[in-house]
Amino acid sequence: MNSKDYLHDLFGCQGRKAIVTGASSGLGAELARVLVSAGADVLAVARRQERLEALANELQDRAGTIHVHAADLSDNATIDTLPEQAREQLGGCDILVANAGTATRARLEDMAEQDFAAVVDLNLKAQWLLAKACFPLLRQSEAGRIVNIASIYGLGASVINGLSAYTVSKHGLVGLTRSQAVEWSRHGITANAIAPSYFPTEMTETALDNEKMSTRLRTFTPQGRFGQPTELATALLFLCSKASGYVNGTVVPVDGGWTAW
Ligand SMILES: NC(=O)c1ccc[n+]([C@@H]2O[C@H](COP(=O)([O-])OP(=O)(O)OC[C@H]3O[C@@H](n4cnc5c(N)ncnc54)[C@H](OP(=O)(O)O)[C@@H]3O)[C@@H](O)[C@H]2O)c1
Repeated sequence: MNSKDYLHDLFGCQGRKAIVTGASSGLGAELARVLVSAGADVLAVARRQERLEALANELQDRAGTIHVHAADLSDNATIDTLPEQAREQLGGCDILVANAGTATRARLEDMAEQDFAAVVDLNLKAQWLLAKACFPLLRQSEAGRIVNIASIYGLGASVINGLSAYTVSKHGLVGLTRSQAVEWSRHGITANAIAPSYFPTEMTETALDNEKMSTRLRTFTPQGRFGQPTELATALLFLCSKASGYVNGTVVPVDGGWTAW
């Protein structure tokens, strides 16, 4: 095997079947882009169908294929329909990228119970339910992979006041990842998380458009800048490919050095 084929075999995702949630914008769209470009067949999931279809049009000529499915993951019954979609549209599921997420800002003393619950329900409970629903497909895969998109706020508290529900949910997601690795390794499934710092997306728009806050957040980042979605997607590719076969139960920070403080 020449070097090109060797690396292609290690880092490629040719013919692998992947579900990517939250693929209608921001990081999820880029995660879908890199997987389809690496040869995976992707089921892109989010609520906004037209955004998913635009992404599918953009990725028509890549190495893999992209299929779309509009679904609200805050609805448990909807989550249960996803494995069937993956079976119908992809023929199974080897890779689950649990990326859909949300954030609300309110200080601990002011936060309404339903707002706290909405964040934890989507960022944590829905990720568990989704993985549980996909487990029968993942265990049939030769190499099942779960990659949960956590956050630096899954490893430590937020430097911005008011993100406690988000912080709690992402700490829980890190715990879920480690539990999935421990319980499901024997079924040939690895589970890892990625912990991004700040990347410009719809979710971070308000914070990053605020000059004072944006400067503060850059100061917390040793590299002094925010990340680019592609810089996150390459970490995902590693965790989904053969190259990471013995990497399991870890949290990979893609954070410009934030967690090195
Ligand atoms: N950007 C950052 O700096 C950063 C840092 C750390 C972690 N993260 C994490 O990265 C992930 C992606 O965030 P992003 O920054 O790319 O923000 P984003 O552009 O707002 O993306 C969020 C995605 O989640 C989907 N989503 C939200 N609620 C949903 C629901 N109920 N059902 C199905 N899909 C839903 C959205 O699609 P629809 O609205 O179409 O449903 C969208 O595609 C999140 O888990 C976030 O916590 C982001």
